Amino acid sequence: KKLIIINGPNLNLLGTREPDVYGSLTLVDFLETIKAKYSKIKIDHFQSNIEGELISKIQEVGFSYDGIILNAAAYTHTSVGIGDAVRAITTPVVEVHISNTFAREDFRHHSFIAPNAKGVIVGFGLQSYELAIQSFLNE
Ligand code: DQA
Repeated sequence: KKLIIINGPNLNLLGTREPDVYGSLTLVDFLETIKAKYSKIKIDHFQSNIEGELISKIQEVGFSYDGIILNAAAYTHTSVGIGDAVRAITTPVVEVHISNTFAREDFRHHSFIAPNAKGVIVGFGLQSYELAIQSFLNE
């Protein structure tokens, strides 16, 4: 199995960014833990603060990988382009969010990705990513 975690803007600051909302673990530490725990499968990672780079990566992996775990962060709520990219590919996408976006501001309640995603996992902290990985293992 070949999965990829794609993280959008500001998620490179995990650990230092609003730790009360997003936790105190850094992205590097978290990925190390997850890769060790699921060492039998290939889990790639890509992070970008740039919308077009996220779209290009989705296109690049979207016809060969078994699953994409996508936290588009703020672009979730704004990007028609990322939503369209998810619709254009054949690899299933699970949308994840660390925080419970529905318990936050109204502008975080809408997702351009969700209508084209296989499913959505929201609000379980970094465990959201792990639940998404598990969703692909049980296939
Ligand atoms: C987020 C939620 C988004 O609303 C926010 O813009 C983020 C992170 C999350 O994982 O909780 O940057 O995607």
